Amino acid sequence: MTRDDRHLAPSGRVAYVNGRYVMHRQASVHIEDRGLQFADSVYEVCAVLDGRLIDEAGHSERLGRSLASLDMPMPMGPAALGIVMREMVRRNHLRNGLLYLQVTRGAYRRDHVMPENPKLMLLMTARPTDTAAVERRRSQGIAVVTTPDLRWGRCDIKTTGLLANAMAKTEARRRGAFEAWLVDAESMVTEGSSSNAWIVTDKGVLVTRDLSNAILAGVTRAGVLSALKSESGIELQERAFSVDEAYAAREAFMTSASGGVVPIVSIDQHILGDGKPGPVTRGIHALYSSLATSS
Ligand code: PDD
Repeated sequence: MTRDDRHLAPSGRVAYVNGRYVMHRQASVHIEDRGLQFADSVYEVCAVLDGRLIDEAGHSERLGRSLASLDMPMPMGPAALGIVMREMVRRNHLRNGLLYLQVTRGAYRRDHVMPENPKLMLLMTARPTDTAAVERRRSQGIAVVTTPDLRWGRCDIKTTGLLANAMAKTEARRRGAFEAWLVDAESMVTEGSSSNAWIVTDKGVLVTRDLSNAILAGVTRAGVLSALKSESGIELQERAFSVDEAYAAREAFMTSASGGVVPIVSIDQHILGDGKPGPVTRGIHALYSSLATSS
């Protein structure tokens, strides 16, 4: 290991690969794994807060849906999967962090045609969150920039085919922003490169894109929507919104397992409101996080 890749494998970090717990730095997969060659694989990212898995059932269900869409079975039942996830939390001494799960169609001689009855590969990694950075983003808000949505037609499947997402996020960082909002051919925002997109319009209406093949059904998005059911007083619309509507919004935020509810204070240099996280966003964060950590 060189000085530069030490951050990948601080000593003691444990990974799970196909039934085995191994040292992270020694974990490896076959060079002809279909996940590597075709992105023929799906994944989940599950937050761990105070040593507890957040929205475990939602992530497990979505993993099942992604796999079924690609004609793959679950590599193990949800109960067994939960045991491995918890064991990863335990072995990595994870208090606040992220669990990453990936299922690939396995290692086969390179051929586009998908093998029948594949021997799936399941891996998991765990890493701690930079809590100070998360809190800084939560209190100061972040900038987003818009960029064309170059992805394929099944963004509802959580595949590791993330090249367009990675390009968009990298462009955002080059432009001094934290996240990229992806924009479709009709100038409507689909979602973030790794998050769902929300605005509070100039009329105070909360808007997030409706579910379709164009976006990922975020588990955090679903958690926020169900938390809002107990909260009257906020008008909600699940529909597409345009870039111009976003520029004119009072508030905006993004949701993902890795960050929860993160306030957005500018979009392409348009400052929202007074340039600080707004009251609706702060309220939704408080509501969601108290429900997510109590269930
Ligand atoms: N990203 N949309 C996209 C394209 C995503 O990649 C993600 C999650 C979300 C939010 O989904 P959820 O609330 O279930 O995390 C929306 C994860 C965190 C990632 O790729 O790291």
